[in-house]
Amino acid sequence: MLRRALASAPGKVILFGEHFVVYDKPALVSAIELRARVEAAEAAWEGVRLASGGRDNPAVRAAEYLAERVGLRRGLSLRIESEIPASVGLGSSASVSVAAAAATSILGLRRIELELVREAAGEGERLVHYNPSGIDTAIAVYGGGGVYRRSEGLSSERFHLDRILIIDTGKARRTGEMVRRVRVYAEENPGEFRRLLEEMERLAGEALDALRGPDLQKLGALMSRNQEMLRKVGVSSPEIEEAIGLALKAGALGAKLTGGGGGGCVIAVAEEDKLENVARVVSRRFRTLAPRLMAEGVREEEPG
Ligand code: PMV
Repeated sequence: MLRRALASAPGKVILFGEHFVVYDKPALVSAIELRARVEAAEAAWEGVRLASGGRDNPAVRAAEYLAERVGLRRGLSLRIESEIPASVGLGSSASVSVAAAAATSILGLRRIELELVREAAGEGERLVHYNPSGIDTAIAVYGGGGVYRRSEGLSSERFHLDRILIIDTGKARRTGEMVRRVRVYAEENPGEFRRLLEEMERLAGEALDALRGPDLQKLGALMSRNQEMLRKVGVSSPEIEEAIGLALKAGALGAKLTGGGGGGCVIAVAEEDKLENVARVVSRRFRTLAPRLMAEGVREEEPG
């Protein structure tokens, strides 16, 4: 009999520290309630393919890696469904890779082996990213929220922030290209880049305190400062600046890009009673979402 398994994994928002996290500085990250679901079905062929056709996909690479590690000999067909918009900084490729690896883990081991799934999804990410820090795959596996450092992994934290406003500028871009852009900045401005890395270390600590409070005023001010740093290293864009301007004018306490930048998404914080108004104003120009934070990590689902 050909068996099937289904798993899902959440998307994410980086609240602070994207790009600097590639250089081993701390980043604050939370899973969001938008999820990707992947069904892995044993198939008559060899190797892993998408049900929709094609193989050049991080989910395929992640499933292949995991199948090989656990000695799963049958071919697999992957069916992907995702609520997470792609290429806008919300971790969609990591979520599908994690869900694909988890579904394969269920077929091979009858359970989701979390660390192996993270490793397999990291292999998938290498197809689409340039030098990934691993933050996206770690949060998609473990869920919740926390501080991520490349050399130490994810340390879980309970953030006292229920929702955040996400503004999708609608401009897709490649994270790898943005990471390269920062590398060029670092090579051309070594002294300034070192100062920014030191500042990121301090800012992440202050942001963690503000999130534990929560102190929304402080959080907003720190977000705006983090945005200045990201602008300096060249990963902002006219769309991002426009979205931030609109959010601040409508009453947000702070806003910044999230993820790779160069387009993609912006996040904004506001007092709870103002959030809806900020969303209403901004959504005349951009698509907005306000997903719940601290979502559950990868999990098995009942195949339909
Ligand atoms: O654009 P996303 O969702 O893949 O986020 C990338 C985060 C970066 O810090 C820019 C890159 C990385 O590997 O950490």
